Amino acid sequence: MKVGMLGLLRVVVLVLVLRVSSSSSSSSSSTTSYFGQKNRRSSILPEPVPVQATTSSLRLNRVGSSIVFPLHGNVYPIGFYNVTLNIGQPSKPYFLDPDTGSDLTWLQCDAPCVQCTETPHPLYKPSNSLVPCNDPLCKSLHPPEHRCETPGQCDYEIQYADGGSSMGVLVKDAFSFNFTNGEQLKPPLALGCGYDQIPGPYPHPFDGVLGLGKGKSSIVSQLSKQGLVQNVVGHCISVRGGGYLFFGDGLYDSSRVLWTSMSRDHPEHYSPGFAELIFGGKTTGIKNLLTVFDSGSSYTYLNSPAYQALVSLVKKELTGRSLTEALDDKTLPLCWKGRRPFKSLNDVRKYFKPIALSFANGGKAKTQFELPPEAYLIISRMGNVCLGIIDGKGTGPLNIIGDISMQDKMVIYNNEKQLIGWAPANCDRLPKSKTSSIW
Ligand SMILES: *[C@@H]1O[C@H](CO)[C@@H](O)[C@H](O)[C@H]1NC(C)=O
Ligand SMILES: *[C@@H]1O[C@H](CO)[C@@H](O)[C@H](O)[C@H]1NC(C)=O
Repeated sequence: MKVGMLGLLRVVVLVLVLRVSSSSSSSSSSTTSYFGQKNRRSSILPEPVPVQATTSSLRLNRVGSSIVFPLHGNVYPIGFYNVTLNIGQPSKPYFLDPDTGSDLTWLQCDAPCVQCTETPHPLYKPSNSLVPCNDPLCKSLHPPEHRCETPGQCDYEIQYADGGSSMGVLVKDAFSFNFTNGEQLKPPLALGCGYDQIPGPYPHPFDGVLGLGKGKSSIVSQLSKQGLVQNVVGHCISVRGGGYLFFGDGLYDSSRVLWTSMSRDHPEHYSPGFAELIFGGKTTGIKNLLTVFDSGSSYTYLNSPAYQALVSLVKKELTGRSLTEALDDKTLPLCWKGRRPFKSLNDVRKYFKPIALSFANGGKAKTQFELPPEAYLIISRMGNVCLGIIDGKGTGPLNIIGDISMQDKMVIYNNEKQLIGWAPANCDRLPKSKTSSIW
């Protein structure tokens, strides 16, 4: 079983100051670097030129103001989602991988690029506006004891759980946004100019990553600091593919959302804390699952003991049924075939029970995150049904709720109130505002 089969697993494991490597890049000696790139001796620092601020300072964290982005992609067979952002002056489109498991937004960048993967658009040419090392945004990307080597710039390195990484420098540039009230604004925001990327095992053609985490450097935190939206991120991905992503609090009716508190024990990710696994409406004794919501993961991961326990429950339900394990199907680690190839999940729903994760919710009434069969199964190209919950050997004690389990739900991360919420939703239609009701 190759890791590559499992799709993306983009949750940050480390944000480092420096690359832990001594071997110098062979291509670096003759090119003139734009920034003082790591591993390069001669650094030519450009004069910082402030990006023209086009936002008025009158708006203050406007309630109800939102930005909506269509999402493209699906869990299977594509294995990722993509969102288009318009960045730069003049602005150009870029395809980004939306990731609630990390904070920093970065683009593969011509600074020049030491190591970039194939991009759908020409490499981003950075603005001249460098974020200095003592900026709070830069500090938020580094451990507290971080010392500024080059005070005029903010170097970053970010590593993801799938082994991919990006190294670069923070710049400020204009992002073009259409707000749901019709306003068009181009606020200056910090992003990473990534000039040295190591790809993960699963190739996916992106210009960069859209970090949606709760840290200061995330785009929505920066927009909220400028008073443009509330610090709220949400997404709605459809079982039929596509969906949308949004910033701000103007698109949902809070009273129809099931809310649970973000865990203080695990502040670096969107985590509602510990869950208990419910199978077919009954408790299972599988408890204390520290759970994280991660839109950068295609599938859902359980720690090994919980995974083994769930698999035996699922298999027990299948005994005496017409499904047999499809050992020749390597789409996912566990697939079953029927007498005839399955065309859709409708053909198999009757064999699989609903699963749920029950969160303690800080001692208040328990909140359940429900997973009907379509939130944990796929039909493979070979017409078999495969389990989209995977043994999280590489994710340590964390249990990760990935895209497959968030389909046909609006999932909301409210950083103002430190709440995570969800509600059943039709994710096929782009909402305009709360009044054009999404439920
Ligand atoms: C904003 O809306 C205008 C008009 O509909 C459109 O031309 C433009 O591409 C949109 N910009 C963004 C960043 O979506
Ligand atoms: C990203 O979405 C656009 C549509 O906005 C699509 O044309 C493009 O192929 C997608 N890119 C990837 C890598 O899926």
